[in-house]
Amino acid sequence: MSVELADASEPVQDRSMTGYAVDPDIARARTLPGSFYRDDDVWRRQCEQLFARHWHLYPEGALPAEGGDAVPWSLLPGALDEPLLLLRDDEELVCLSNACSHRGALLVDAPCSFEERSIRCPYHGRRFDHQGRCLSAMGFSPPFTDDADLPRAAFGELGSIGMAALHPTTAFEELIAPIRARTGWLPWDRLTLDTTARYRFAANWALYVDNYLEGLHIPFVHPALAKAVDLASYEVELTPHGSLQWGRAAPGEVALEPPAGHRDHELRVAAYYFFVFPCTMVNVYPWGVSTNAVIPRGIADTEVRFFSWIWDAALRDQGAGGDLHRVEMEDEAVVQRVQRGIGGRLYTRGRYAPDHERAVHHFHRALTRSEEPPRQR
Ligand code: FES
Ligand SMILES: [Fe+2]
Repeated sequence: MSVELADASEPVQDRSMTGYAVDPDIARARTLPGSFYRDDDVWRRQCEQLFARHWHLYPEGALPAEGGDAVPWSLLPGALDEPLLLLRDDEELVCLSNACSHRGALLVDAPCSFEERSIRCPYHGRRFDHQGRCLSAMGFSPPFTDDADLPRAAFGELGSIGMAALHPTTAFEELIAPIRARTGWLPWDRLTLDTTARYRFAANWALYVDNYLEGLHIPFVHPALAKAVDLASYEVELTPHGSLQWGRAAPGEVALEPPAGHRDHELRVAAYYFFVFPCTMVNVYPWGVSTNAVIPRGIADTEVRFFSWIWDAALRDQGAGGDLHRVEMEDEAVVQRVQRGIGGRLYTRGRYAPDHERAVHHFHRALTRSEEPPRQR
């Protein structure tokens, strides 16, 4: 069964193999217990099933150009540790397994150009073309069996931003349809990578996501951000595979100004905060787009990589997206406070503020619903 976030009509029942459930009625529901974020079984199941079946941001920044390097990278190091290789073949981005189909040796260690348009395994010399087809194999005679080719991961592009999945349950275009529908009028094809930042802190990855998914904390945790956004206008919308939060800009602050015919025309939007289940944040500001790749490194160890993609450099330091580092420090501090608090024996579980924490509830429902094992090749 795919993890569908939009279905809130399902009766309450514990269908998760981990024993956690969240009531679909937010007014009645209790939040996930503190033990959920500290449960080794939950963490193991997330690594084995959840992460492998969903899309994740390509965490290396700019995508390879045609004729450029083949880039080795790891999908969710610490959780999946999937070795992959990304390259561009004509217009198509190709994402291959970086493990040789013979006995599994890592093929490529560092970005490299294609000599003779092929990849050669350093172990027994097996060669592959840019689509992963086996060209030659020492000790074997052609024709080679299908399993001599390198398996591929799914890869999708949103402007200059890439996402990959091993065994996706959702098509990429379906996944990002809410982003395209709401912000397609912006110049995504003009985005260029401006800055990157890496953060790492001692808390469970899902606590970081929980915090991202509500604006209720903004006045208390982000005083500077609270001045840039008209918090009375802050809205939460649930989408089939995530959610959207947005608010109008405070008077005098820079804003996105959707064109005539757009549902938000004349509303002067401070930012659109898109969440794509389970680990991806796409934040759209007047200056461009900030993508946040949440990388669960361990049960209480999370890395977040920020990429700032610019379409209007003049606005870079203004508005809701004007000081992302400061906001990140404020968020990390409060998330680590929660990590400490849920470790206590007197805290069990809380409640959702129905008008403000719908996206958190939506996320928790998706996290706790049953999962099938990933498809086998
Ligand atoms: S492991 Fe690659 S050729 Fe043997
Ligand atoms: Fe925050």
